[in-house]
Amino acid sequence: MEMPLDSEKKRVYVCHKLRPETDARSCCIRRGSESVLLAFREEIGKQHCEQIEAVESKCLGACTEGCVVLVHPDNIWYGKVTEADVAEIVHEHFINGKPLERLQLKQYSVPLKPLEIGNPKI
Ligand code: FES
Repeated sequence: MEMPLDSEKKRVYVCHKLRPETDARSCCIRRGSESVLLAFREEIGKQHCEQIEAVESKCLGACTEGCVVLVHPDNIWYGKVTEADVAEIVHEHFINGKPLERLQLKQYSVPLKPLEIGNPKI
């Protein structure tokens, strides 16, 4: 059973798209997004950022940059995120209030409608 999303919380959407191995586009699951999501949930607790919620998302459309992460409503995109990057993202973005520059996908930071990212089903 899916948990309802808390509309008051800032959300970290982690792409959970899985494509066949033969698909040349690859996908974020094959680039470690399951570990990235778990790492976000762990770091959010460790760094006492309980106002942040990390959730699965459908394909975010930046597949060549996987693993792709979107922080909403900040509209900050991160690409090529690995489990090893997560503690730094949480600390810089949510504790220091400065999105981590080195992994940002600034070309994707265009305004989105909530419905474009709100459905975790692919
Ligand atoms: S597969 Fe992750 S952004 Fe498309």
